[in-house]
Amino acid sequence: MYDLTKEEKNAIKEHLRRKGLPLNVDVTFSNVALPDEYSGIRTRSEIRDFSSKLLPNLTLNIPFISANMRSVTGAEMIIAVEREGGLGVMPQDLPVDERLKILEKVLRAESAVIDEPICVRATQTLDEAKAAMRKYNVTGLLVVDEANRLVGILSSRDWRYWDGPDLGSTQIGRLMTSVKDRDFVTALPGISLEEARKLLKENKIEKLPLVDADGKVRGLITARGLFYTSRHPRALRDEKGRFIRVGSIGVIGESRDLSRLLNEVELQMQKGISALLIDTARSFSVNAEETIEAVKKQFDIPIIAGNTSNPKGVKFLCELGADCVKVGQGPGLVCTTREVGVGIPQLSAVAMASVIARRYGKTIIADGGIRGEDDIVKALIAGADAVMLGYLLAGTEESAPEANPVYSKEFETKIMAKDYYGSASPDAQLARIAEGTLSEARRPEGRKITVPVIGPLSRRVNDLLNGMRSLMSYVGARNIKELQEKGSFHRQSEAGYSEGVKEKMVLLRQKSL
Ligand code: XMP
Repeated sequence: MYDLTKEEKNAIKEHLRRKGLPLNVDVTFSNVALPDEYSGIRTRSEIRDFSSKLLPNLTLNIPFISANMRSVTGAEMIIAVEREGGLGVMPQDLPVDERLKILEKVLRAESAVIDEPICVRATQTLDEAKAAMRKYNVTGLLVVDEANRLVGILSSRDWRYWDGPDLGSTQIGRLMTSVKDRDFVTALPGISLEEARKLLKENKIEKLPLVDADGKVRGLITARGLFYTSRHPRALRDEKGRFIRVGSIGVIGESRDLSRLLNEVELQMQKGISALLIDTARSFSVNAEETIEAVKKQFDIPIIAGNTSNPKGVKFLCELGADCVKVGQGPGLVCTTREVGVGIPQLSAVAMASVIARRYGKTIIADGGIRGEDDIVKALIAGADAVMLGYLLAGTEESAPEANPVYSKEFETKIMAKDYYGSASPDAQLARIAEGTLSEARRPEGRKITVPVIGPLSRRVNDLLNGMRSLMSYVGARNIKELQEKGSFHRQSEAGYSEGVKEKMVLLRQKSL
């Protein structure tokens, strides 16, 4: 089933030939090197555009996606990676309550537009207002009447110079800045962030209430929220300045039926997700088929589906209506699927998958096995639109696990380290059994390692982007599209690989204790 047509097979052959990849054997990252090409790039700093379109409604500003693994991605990771312009995707094997909490945290972080600002009534006292400010950690409150119409705004400057008696029990209405004041500024709910920034600046104000034609409160834009959006200009945000949310579910199986999965999608849709990941190690399957079909029937949401490593599996998922396919079986550092015997070496898998996906107008994510910027660039040249990173982000401060002190033989001292474990490892399975989402342990297809804490994610991303700039300058590519078009490979022997790569070995040895 889902056999490739003669045309599709020929298109794959043509792509492999053009890229310098062999037709008769599948290869991976270390089997190839990048020849330098004539480059019109004078300095690496000329390379600034790392954007890549992933979904009809989503273009990444850098082509990195944090792995949907418990030992990598929680709310902190999503926020950190999206601040840098990449995408964070949470694991589907967390209980749905946990996934909703993560989405909620991401939704509220550094948002420029607050949809439901904290409001008080003019008849309440200042003490009550101050208690609300403390509780919600806000510096100002909107004052509304019984019909939610805006009547004023209250912040500390409204009472700082009050010299009447009994400040605490004074009614807010006597202290607030009233909408009737001549210079009270509001805006309509659809205002763009740029226009809002201008209004705040021109009027030297901190808060801009959004009010509809009936005078009802529909939101609030704050200078603090706008400050965040300008501080991280590359960040991946929606039109309200909020970080992008991607929902995630598994597929039907022993512990999950369809109605439960559809309910999980419904709940995540309520958090305004931009896409849904439908994730399973075995997506070229009847379980994935029935799940994707049911989701597509009920919801209008772009779908990322995976994993597969077979171009036929990519065709199957594209036919089902996936917008993006996650490619990779077994290349991950803590994966043992290929030890079980399944999966196609990653670079060939990505190259073949990209041909099929492109014919359907879809994209692919190269998932697993990425050990440095060279592998990222190779995956993109082979045809990936983005890479998914587990190991490279596992040691950052923002990855999901707690950091603990461990003794390092190499440094002869205690250092801070985190666990990095596969989603099908005994560790992940035990956590799921404890949470009640897995009935009994299965044969493990993953393991656990310990990685040192390497500092903030922003530093790791910066290092990777600088490395990519260097490689891209050798290839003469100013952006991802040019890289995909111009880049090709030379096959290399094992001796050829180890002749060139010395540092990476050291890096790997140091990075996993
Ligand atoms: P890296 O190499 O970036 O790979 O650490 C991350 C990817 O590994 C996959 N993954 C697994 N594969 N058994 C597997 O066979 C597992 O237990 C497992 N856990 C994660 C996954 O695709 C992830 O994005």
